[in-house]
Amino acid sequence: MTAILFVCLGNICRSPLAEAAFRKEAERLGLDVEIDSAGTGDWHVGRAPDSRAQAVAARNGVDISHLRARQVTEEDFRRFDHVVALDAKNLANLRALRPADGTARLSLLLDHVPDRNGEAVADPYHGEDAAFDMTWRHVTEGARALARRLAEGA
Ligand code: 4NP
Repeated sequence: MTAILFVCLGNICRSPLAEAAFRKEAERLGLDVEIDSAGTGDWHVGRAPDSRAQAVAARNGVDISHLRARQVTEEDFRRFDHVVALDAKNLANLRALRPADGTARLSLLLDHVPDRNGEAVADPYHGEDAAFDMTWRHVTEGARALARRLAEGA
C-alpha cells in the first residue's frame, strides 16, 4: 500500500480537491493507496472545505463535505510515502518542516505531468467560481499523471 498526502496552504481548497481527484483516479486504476490532505497553515484547522471547492467536487461527482482541515505534522513525513505540494511555496515550507528521519518523497503535483515540471496549482481562494473549475482541471491532470506513475511502479 502506498500512502500519499496532498498539501496546500489552508487545506480547504486545493489539497482536498487533489485528494478527491486522486481518489477517483486510484479507484479507476485499482491502486492500493492511502490518501489524505493537509495544510502548511493552521487558520482553517477543523473546518470543512471551502463551499466553492465542495461545489466543484460535487459537479464532478465527488462528495468532499466530510473532510476537515488539518495542519501538516512531523509524523506525516514518516507515515506517507509521497508528500505532494500544490505550489512551490508550500513545497519549500515542507522541506523546512521535514524531520531528519522523514522518509517521504517530496514533489510538486504538476511535476508528475510531462512538460509541467515546476508549475503551481494556483490558489483559487480569492478568485471567482471559475477559478475553482480551473483548480479542478489542474488537480485532475496532476492526479491522473501521478496515479499512472504509481500504477507503473514508480
Ligand atoms: P488552499 O487555499 O491553500 O488551496 O486551501 C487557501 C485557503 C485559505 C487561505 C489561503 C489559501 N487563507 O489565506 O486563509
